[in-house]
Amino acid sequence: MTAKTWLITGTSTGFGRSLATFLAKQPDVNVVATARHPEQLSYLDEFDHGQILKQRLDVTDRDEIAAAVKATVDKFGALDVLINNAGLGYFGTFEESDRDQVKYMFDVNVWGLVDMTRAALPTMRQQHEGTIVNFSSIGGLFSFPTLSFYHGTKYAVEGMTESLAKEVADLNIKLMLIEPSGFRTDWAGRSSNKAMPKIDDYKQFADFIEGNEEGAHHEPGDPDKAAQIIYDQVTNHRDSLPLRLPLGKIASDTAINKYEQTLADFKRLHDLSASADQPEK
Ligand SMILES: NC(=O)c1ccc[n+]([C@@H]2O[C@H](COP(=O)([O-])OP(=O)(O)OC[C@H]3O[C@@H](n4cnc5c(N)ncnc54)[C@H](OP(=O)(O)O)[C@@H]3O)[C@@H](O)[C@H]2O)c1
Repeated sequence: MTAKTWLITGTSTGFGRSLATFLAKQPDVNVVATARHPEQLSYLDEFDHGQILKQRLDVTDRDEIAAAVKATVDKFGALDVLINNAGLGYFGTFEESDRDQVKYMFDVNVWGLVDMTRAALPTMRQQHEGTIVNFSSIGGLFSFPTLSFYHGTKYAVEGMTESLAKEVADLNIKLMLIEPSGFRTDWAGRSSNKAMPKIDDYKQFADFIEGNEEGAHHEPGDPDKAAQIIYDQVTNHRDSLPLRLPLGKIASDTAINKYEQTLADFKRLHDLSASADQPEK
């Protein structure tokens, strides 16, 4: 079997590192492991078998994006699977969140993913084959207080992915959204800026923010298991790849409850909703 070439963003820690490590062990995979600081990828040295490319990549830098895609195709002759994993969090009430910090989070979580995807699509269209895995979150379906802007980034990823999937379906390019609940990575810790509430009216949310920070690295989700599941879906179930894949029991329960509740509301409102149309001629 010809080896498939996977490019992953943000492989220094967390899901990205688990994926790069898992893929490096597969004989049928070429791995392009990217990071802002490639010296953090020395964990891959033990697998140095010629099918691994370490590449500097900050997803907010379009020159580095173009260089990463070019280096991938130059070395392996293809780009089969793009994993848009790099991402940040931000905790703070809607009113008190720092505008520059949340804009930067949009640059990484949304525009970084957009620019990576646009850079990969020409190669995938030419190949008439490709798979793009976009890291959303259960926070791309369901919203908590103090995470409004993080949700904004992930809901944006959900909407764009769903639309793009329809545009490229006939080109044999598939998309999958990953929607994890809490996983043991650096996300809730170093990868999330926090604005503790200063306005008295929002003081009750301080516990939620502190609880998330204290809970970092104690979450139930195992990123190594996530890596295995993603590999299996893309490799063995590509023909029936789900558009949305909640990962973790909490993510699955939350997604089911949210959709059941929303479905019940839409059905209850159906006649009212339909009454807004012009009368049929
Ligand atoms: N862990 C969870 O509970 C959870 C739940 C739902 C969704 N997610 C999503 O999962 C994805 C991966 O996060 P994680 O949980 O694995 O957290 P993580 O351990 O903090 O990893 C985040 C990765 O993103 C990278 N990154 C940040 N800014 C970047 C940039 N400008 N360019 C390139 N890479 C950048 C980081 O690199 P540096 O080392 O250079 O900072 C790091 O490798 C994110 O999209 C996150 O939103 C996580």
